[in-house]
Parts: sequence; C-alpha cells; structure tokens
Amino acid sequence: MSYSEHHQAIRDMAAKFSNVELAPRAHDIDKEGRIPKEVLGKLAENGFLGIFVPEAYGGAGMDYVSYSILVEELSRGCASTGVLVSAHASLATWPIMYFGTDAQKAKYLPKLASGEMIGCFCLSEPNAGSDAGALTTVAEDKGDHYVIRGMKNWITNGREAGLAIVFAKTRKTENHKGISAFIVETNSPGFSVIKVEDKLGIKGSSTAQLAFDDVKVPKSNLLGQLEQGFKIALATLDGGRLGIASQALGIGEAAFRYAKSYAKERVQFGAPIANLQAIQFMLADMSTKLAASRLLILDGSLKKDQGKSYTKEGAQAKLFASEAAMWISTKAIQICGGNGYTKEYPVERHFRDAKITEIYEGTSEIQRLVIAATELKS
Ligand code: CAA
Repeated sequence: MSYSEHHQAIRDMAAKFSNVELAPRAHDIDKEGRIPKEVLGKLAENGFLGIFVPEAYGGAGMDYVSYSILVEELSRGCASTGVLVSAHASLATWPIMYFGTDAQKAKYLPKLASGEMIGCFCLSEPNAGSDAGALTTVAEDKGDHYVIRGMKNWITNGREAGLAIVFAKTRKTENHKGISAFIVETNSPGFSVIKVEDKLGIKGSSTAQLAFDDVKVPKSNLLGQLEQGFKIALATLDGGRLGIASQALGIGEAAFRYAKSYAKERVQFGAPIANLQAIQFMLADMSTKLAASRLLILDGSLKKDQGKSYTKEGAQAKLFASEAAMWISTKAIQICGGNGYTKEYPVERHFRDAKITEIYEGTSEIQRLVIAATELKS
C-alpha cells in the first residue's frame, strides 16, 4: 500500500525502533512480565508517548494515521509495548485533548506526552464488562470535591499509571445516564493496585484490578460535562479500537513474516516447504488479511483525522484485524509445525498475544453490535 511520504517516514522510523529496541527484547518482556524502564524512556525520548498531542503541549503534533502506523510497528516488535502506548495515548490522553478544559490540558498533556505520567482508562468493573453502563463505582459530590468509591477491573497500564480516566456514577441510575468522567492522579490517598493479572498473552503489559477507597478528586478534575461520562467513554473507545486494530495488525504481520521466512528455509521431502501449495495458500490468505486490515485501519484513521464519524469504521477495523491476527498466528504455528509450538519460536507468543485483541476495548461480539446498530440507523 502506498502512504504519503510523511507517513512512510513515520513508518520507517517506528519500524527501525521496533526492530532495534523491541523485537530483540520481546521474548524476555513476555517471560518477565514487565516492560523495562529503559524501553519506556526510549519511547518517551522518541516522542511516541505524545504522538498526537499538539506541540504546544509538548507532543509530536501528528495525526491519527501516524498513531495507527506507530502502534502497528511497535506491536510487530512487541505487542505488550504496543498496547502500553495505545492505551496511554488513545484511552487516557485523547479524552483530555478532546473533552478537557484549557487548565486540564495545560496541567496534564505535557506530563502524558513526556511520559512523566503514564495513563490508564478505568471503565470496566467486575460486573460491568461488555455492559459498561452497569458500572457501580460512585462519585459523591462533597461541595468543592468528589469522593470516588469502587473497584475497576482489567485496567491496561494499571500498575504504571500516574493518571487514570475514571468513570463513576454521580447519580444513582439503573443505566448509563448518571455516569461522569474524572481525571484522577493515582498518588491520591485511597487509590491502590489490588492485583496484576497473570495472563495468557501480552504479559509485559500490566492488566490490573484497582481500588478507589474514598479517593478525593477536586471538582476541577471533572472531565467534560456532568453525566456525559458514558458518551465520553464510548467516543474514546471509538479511537481506542483503531489502536487495538493496529496492535492486532502488528502481531499478525510479525507472525506472517516469521512463517514466510521459515517456509523458505524449512526443507521437507527434499525441498523448502514454501514450494508446497498447501503452504502457499496459507501465506496468500495471511497476506490478503493483513492488507485488508491495513486498509480498514487507514480508512477509520483518515476519517478521524478529517473530523468525520468513524464509529463503524473503528469497530470494523478492530473486528477484522483482531480475527485476522488470531487466524494468521494460528496458521503461522501450523506452518512452523512442532517448532512453532515451542517457546523457542516466536509464533506461539504471537498466537497468545493475538487472542486479547478479540476481547479488550469491546469483544468481537460488541463490535458486531456497534456495526449493525450504525448500519441499521442509515
Ligand atoms: N460515541 C459517543 N456516544 C455514543 C457512542 C459513541 N460511539 N455510541 C453510543 N453513544 C451514546 C448513545 O447515543 C446513547 O446516548 P443517549 O443516552 O443520549 O441515548 C448512549 O451513548 C448509550 O448508547 P447505547 O444505548 O447504544 O448504549 P448501550 O448501553 O446499549 O451499550 C454498547 C452499547 C455498544 C454495548 C457499549 O456498552 C459498549 O461498547 N460496550 C463495550 C464496552 C467496552 O468496550 N469495554 C472495554 C473497556 S476498555 C478496555 O477493555 C481496555 C482497558 O485498558 C481498560
């Protein structure tokens, strides 16, 4: 696919970073369950943590197409690092850029862009996953501040986060109507990390359960309008889903490249297995699914940059790219055979990493609901 010179330059820079700094460390990051501080420092130094934050706030001032390319390339090298950047940028930084007051932007965007604060997005709860509107965390109005009480689950970056976008009910309702959004600094008394999940994949990325035990939040940290929190969450997730689609694409691309080079080297029946049509057909389908994913992501990202509606496109990109990544990584193991099933070969990690892309930021089933709802409205 041909990108503009500018976007191609961003891809080249991100690819170089990914090849040099991430791919050689990805096995250890997976094994140790942690992204080294040194890598976080390098992400910040390169401007990746503030990729679309305006330059006035210390960011790189780039567009969403650039962000999608960046997340794809980082995830190709290390899917855990890819999602750290994606959740930090699209779920925590973007809502402040879009819904924040001037004072909130001035206070928090430079810290997020520089990596002084890593961001997370606290919507899900033990009993409110796909049905996000059913959340029960409350924010009580105490005059000049709110007090937040509740539990949040499966929070990407929960271990590292200095800032959390927290959704809580300011009015008790059975549905989403009473939800408001808040910017919470995680050094506030009452905030704690209850546990970090032990997961199938993306093991270097922290997925945490967080407790908010009467966390005091100044009124000035209400994000957007009172009781508009659910819309802020869903609008934020529209962009987040393009990030996860890009992560899935990066994982799929990594699995494809490995399987292709393996097929050219691996000799059976006296010739490389790449000569066999059975293998060629798998490679052809992998390549096609990757190309289609990339086009869907580009379409959604361009629409976002142009200020057009992209809810459906974001959901389509995530649905397609995540299911493609799962399929591609499964076939990559098949091509690598017994070797592919061992931890000495990276394709088993790609397979484990791919699975979550069909789940977080809205399962494949939720994406289908979002796509159908948008189609039926038109
Ligand atoms: N942008 C802005 N507003 C939107 C919107 C969008 N994309 N989509 C819907 N809305 C508005 C609607 O217009 C409606 O407004 P009104 O109250 O004025 O009528 C309101 O939001 C509620 O919409 P719905 O009636 O469609 O809501 P619903 O309760 O039926 O839910 C859903 C719809 C698609 C199932 C939604 O709940 C959803 O997306 N669920 C999945 C949640 C999800 O993705 N969770 C992942 C959490 S984050 C994560 O996993 C990663 C991490 O790091 C924490």
